Amino acid sequence: MATPSSGATHERTRLIAHFEARSAGNQGSGWCELWDRGESNLWDRGKPSPPLIDLLERRHDLLEPITGGRRKMVLVPGCGRGYDVVMLALHGFDAYGLEISSSAVAEAKLYAGSELNNPSAYNFSDINSSTRYTGGFASFVLGDFFQKDWETNLPFGNNTKFDMIYDYTFLCALPPNMRAEWARRMAELLTPGGLLVCLEFPLYKDPDLPGPPWGLRGVHWDILARGGNGLTADLINAEEQKTDAGPGQGQFRRILHIQPPNSYEIGRGTDMLSVWEKI
Ligand SMILES: C[S@@+](CC[C@H](N)C(=O)[O-])C[C@H]1O[C@@H](n2cnc3c(N)ncnc32)[C@H](O)[C@@H]1O
Repeated sequence: MATPSSGATHERTRLIAHFEARSAGNQGSGWCELWDRGESNLWDRGKPSPPLIDLLERRHDLLEPITGGRRKMVLVPGCGRGYDVVMLALHGFDAYGLEISSSAVAEAKLYAGSELNNPSAYNFSDINSSTRYTGGFASFVLGDFFQKDWETNLPFGNNTKFDMIYDYTFLCALPPNMRAEWARRMAELLTPGGLLVCLEFPLYKDPDLPGPPWGLRGVHWDILARGGNGLTADLINAEEQKTDAGPGQGQFRRILHIQPPNSYEIGRGTDMLSVWEKI
C-alpha cells in the first residue's frame, strides 16, 4: 500500500492541528483562515485530476459535454484554486466552482483568466484531443455548500440542477458527522440521472484517525448506496464494496468503480474513481 512522503505527512499534521479544536459549525472559517494566510500549499496539488481527465476523454458514452444541444452544467464544491473547474470548461462543460473562501474565489478567477486563454498541457490526457472540444465557461461562486443562499447566483436560482458534480478532497475535508448531509446535498443539487464523480482519497488512511484529510475507506458506498451516516462504527466490510448492484437505501447507484492507472502521486495505487448515478 502506498504511503505518503514525510513532507506530505508534515502537511497533514499541520492541517489536523489547525482543525482539531473546531466544532463542525466552525470549519468554514478555518478554511478561510488558511486561504487568507496563503497556506493552500497544505493541500493544493497544482493541477487538475488526472483520473477525471482520462474519464472525460475515454468515456464519452458517460460524460459527453453536450446534451440536447446545450452544454451540461457541472459543479465542483470546495474547488480550491479551480484546476478541475477550468479543465472541465476546456472539455466543453459549463463548469461552476463553489468555495467558502473569498480568497480562494479570487485566486481561482485569476487562475482561470490565464489558463482558459493559454491552457497548460496538463489539462488533457491526450493533447491531440484538445481540438475535439469547444470550451464552455468557468464560473466561481462564493458560498457554503451546506447552505442554499449561493444558489440564487446560479442560472435558474434555487431550481438549478447540475448534470454532474465532481468531488476530490472535499468530502475528506469535512468532519465525519457531516457526511450524511454531504450526500443529501449532492442528491439535492443533481438532476435525476445526473452523475456524481468521486476521486476517493485517502483510502490508505485508517478511518478512525483524525483529519483532515479524513480516511474514507468504505464511506462513499455507505452514504451514497446504503444511505448510511458514513461513521466508522457503521461502515460495511470490503467484500460488500465489490458489488455494484444490490439494494440500498441511498439515493445513488454506483455505475463505475475503478482503480485509475493515473492519479496524483499521493494517492497512486490506492485512489479509486467512482461514478454514481442519482436514482
Ligand atoms: C482540501 S481543500 C481541496 C480543494 C480542491 N478540491 C483541490 O483539490 O485543490 C478543501 C476546500 O474546500 C473548501 N471548503 C471547505 N468547506 C466548504 C464548504 N462548506 N463549502 C464550500 N467550500 C468549502 C475549502 O475552502 C478548501 O478550499
